[in-house]
Amino acid sequence: RRGRLHLALTRTFMNNTLDLVSYGPVIPVIVLQRVEDAVPLAEALVAGGVRVLEVTMRTPVALQCIEAIAKAVPDAIVGAGTIRSAADAQAAKNAGSVFGVSPGYTSEVGRACQAAGLPLLPGVATASEVMAAQADGLQFLKFFPAMQAGGIPMLKALAGPFPDVVFCPTGGISLQTAPDFLALPNVKVCGGSWLTPADAVEAGDWGRITQLAKGATALRG
Ligand code: 3PG
Repeated sequence: RRGRLHLALTRTFMNNTLDLVSYGPVIPVIVLQRVEDAVPLAEALVAGGVRVLEVTMRTPVALQCIEAIAKAVPDAIVGAGTIRSAADAQAAKNAGSVFGVSPGYTSEVGRACQAAGLPLLPGVATASEVMAAQADGLQFLKFFPAMQAGGIPMLKALAGPFPDVVFCPTGGISLQTAPDFLALPNVKVCGGSWLTPADAVEAGDWGRITQLAKGATALRG
């Protein structure tokens, strides 16, 4: 089992090219409404030991936020979430993203990310989607939406036919449930928005966000 996992991880690094799993157990899913929040939020997360940041391209300021973090927070490894098209991939890369996350997977988006030099963590929720991503050389996949798509039993079921795939479950995970996901052999990191509650960002309560980041960092002892 261990041998197979090691092999899986080695392949993962080759194909997805960015070793996102080594920096910590949680990738925060970030939604920003104001550009001026981007840098202090990223600094607050980094202060809590969380360096890999997914800024979702769901708000009009997302690209500006990515650019600001890429320029001003050298310890952050900033990526763009919600990549749904080739244009999104190129825009994310141009803004300074060092990786991309997509809610689902299409070969078009996969090719666009490859052409742009943007390592992609693509979302999958079914065996067919895992096969499509694998066929394009991707072995490190986001399992999304994790709770709604079957949670831990689904990840256990996928481990049988796909022993060479490593998952980042995202969607409906909390500090309380993350340890059960992280205990699975085919999960190395999970994603979630609980580190960046909208009210804390709105209020500029960066201390609270650093505390939440510390709690997430401590999940990998
Ligand atoms: C999202 O779509 O916002 C992400 O999957 C995060 O989901 P969560 O808010 O359930 O953590």
